Amino acid sequence: MAKIFSVVSGNGGAGKSTVCCHLARAMALHGEKTLVVEMNSGFRTLDVFFNIDQIVYDFGDVVEKRCDVFEAIQNVKNCEFLDLLPASVDIEKSFENLDYKRLFDILQEKYDNIILDLPSYGRIIYDIKNIIDVFLVVAAPDPVCIRNASILVSYMRNESQENIDMKLIVNKISKKAFKRGLIDNIDSIIDDTQLQFLGGLPISENVMLANCNGISLKKCSLEYKIFEAIYERLNGNCVDILI
Ligand SMILES: Nc1ncnc2c1ncn2[C@@H]1O[C@H](COP(=O)(O)OP(=O)(O)OP(=O)(O)O)[C@@H](O)[C@H]1O
Ligand SMILES: [Mg+2]
Repeated sequence: MAKIFSVVSGNGGAGKSTVCCHLARAMALHGEKTLVVEMNSGFRTLDVFFNIDQIVYDFGDVVEKRCDVFEAIQNVKNCEFLDLLPASVDIEKSFENLDYKRLFDILQEKYDNIILDLPSYGRIIYDIKNIIDVFLVVAAPDPVCIRNASILVSYMRNESQENIDMKLIVNKISKKAFKRGLIDNIDSIIDDTQLQFLGGLPISENVMLANCNGISLKKCSLEYKIFEAIYERLNGNCVDILI
């Protein structure tokens, strides 16, 4: 029975798809069958990050019942345990009437992890919050992104009756900007959001290259190790936080 993770942010461009991609690769490399579901209609990204060049059916086709969900799911090359359900290319596609529970019940039986790449706006986050086990909030360390992440977190907490599990990943850290005091330090970001911190990723050429070319991060790279550490911490293992 898959655990469902949802990657969210208060701002566009914070790095949600990047986190989905490399965290999913880390999970799959541990032998866990992992599905990434891309839910931001009109703004496909993960086909590029996963180097998938031909898409016949997508999430929109599943919603409109033009195909079975498993016909739209594609395996990621060179990654046996990793699959993608690509986003609809129709910017106006809305999933208001979709029975999320039913759809994800079916998928949960086939996978160990399901990661949802959500848009940073719109009702969809609130519509599906009841099926999510863990929210991963991605924020860049700038005042606007952190404030918007905090607003999102407060809203989510106020909206839900039960405690929701939310954790923080900081992305696009510039060491130079930290040193020069141009951006807040990680402690103040954690204070602002009041979330458990899983890890921080630098602005990095390795990430850019991996994303643009649809390849994995190199095992010897710091960024690969950061995603490994995030994976371990998500599994409750006590490992050093890498930044
Ligand atoms: N740590 C990083 N270092 C360098 N480039 C990065 C890093 N994280 C993300 N990027 C790049 O920044 C851009 C935005 O990242 P990404 O698409 O993951 O953000 P997003 O939050 O999913 O955006 P959207 O809100 O549009 O869905 C992409 O071009 C991605 O390759
Ligand atoms: Mg995205």
